[in-house]
Amino acid sequence: MQNGPERRIRRIAVNTGGGDAPGLNAVIRAVTLAALHEGWEVLGIRRGYMGLLEAEVDGEPGLVNLTAHAVRGITHLGGTILGTTTRGNPFGLEVRQPDGTWGTVDRSDEIVQRFRELGIDCLVAIGGDGSLNIAHALHRKGLPVIGVPKTIDNDLRATDVTFGFQTAVEVATDAIGRLHSTAEAHQRVMIVQVMGRHTGWIALDSGMAGGADVILIPEIPYRLDRIAAKVVERDRAGRRFSIIVVAEGARPADGEPSYADATGRYGGVADAMADEIERLTGKEARTLVLGHIQRGGEPIAYDRNLSLRFGAAAVRCIRDGSLGTMVALQGGAIRAVPLEDAVGEIKRVPLDADLLTAGRQLGVSFGD
Ligand code: F6P
Repeated sequence: MQNGPERRIRRIAVNTGGGDAPGLNAVIRAVTLAALHEGWEVLGIRRGYMGLLEAEVDGEPGLVNLTAHAVRGITHLGGTILGTTTRGNPFGLEVRQPDGTWGTVDRSDEIVQRFRELGIDCLVAIGGDGSLNIAHALHRKGLPVIGVPKTIDNDLRATDVTFGFQTAVEVATDAIGRLHSTAEAHQRVMIVQVMGRHTGWIALDSGMAGGADVILIPEIPYRLDRIAAKVVERDRAGRRFSIIVVAEGARPADGEPSYADATGRYGGVADAMADEIERLTGKEARTLVLGHIQRGGEPIAYDRNLSLRFGAAAVRCIRDGSLGTMVALQGGAIRAVPLEDAVGEIKRVPLDADLLTAGRQLGVSFGD
């Protein structure tokens, strides 16, 4: 929806949805300060959209007035001062039925109604694939929205990179680097499981930077015999340890990915692989599941600055009437792309990615 620059803005809102990512607070600060600079008011909505539906969320008012004071000193902080939730889709909110079972209810009309009552002229929705899909659906119901691409997974198309990704890569790279000495001391195979959902961006970037011998990503189904062959080849060459980095969503060529539970959350691939690698190579294998440490803590400088740029650009979009868009990084420049181009299909690692090609040239195994 293009409302045109002539539309007078008085008040905007901002929320954070889905899994957190380092840089959320920097975006909130940038949106707030840039909007205040335009003379607008800024409302923060707690826990996704819950703060609009409930007067209180976690004992605090559902809506918070974001002043310059409220966002002071938060650029470097992990998490989100607004809180977030992965269970706050207003089109399908989970509710307990009278018979004790769980069902869902669509409260999206109430959200649109609340925005009108509160005189909110635009929502800045900071989120990943799921949250931006919700924002897009609300936009189609008439709510002016700007999206900001967040996720450590880096799986949003239309932007070269999402904020939070580089911090996750840094954390994973550090962990992989630290494993080398202990792996070598014990002549073991260390299997590091990293996040990334359906894509292998974190595994590829951290595996390469951390000097992994084998990198397994969902985009390239793996064969256990190929992985074992690489470990044995290294052993014979006197390199009696190996580091395997496996994306949580990686899957064998002849099977399915490993799921943690029935909700479709990934988990367990490293542990399952360790037993097989021990059996096939006769070497001791240990696993490290990095988990949420990849999302926690302070964003690195790159993500802080990207977040600040995204937040400031979102305010420019509102000012210029470029609504229904997502701010994106494309070839070094920040652009506004239509929300429908940003959501839906995810961005997978292309099989001709330069880093992947370089890895093959350097003798890294991708398990195929
Ligand atoms: O999307 C971010 C992410 O950290 C994924 O990499 C991971 O699969 C998932 O979220 C974990 O979700 P949760 O925080 O619900 O365990």
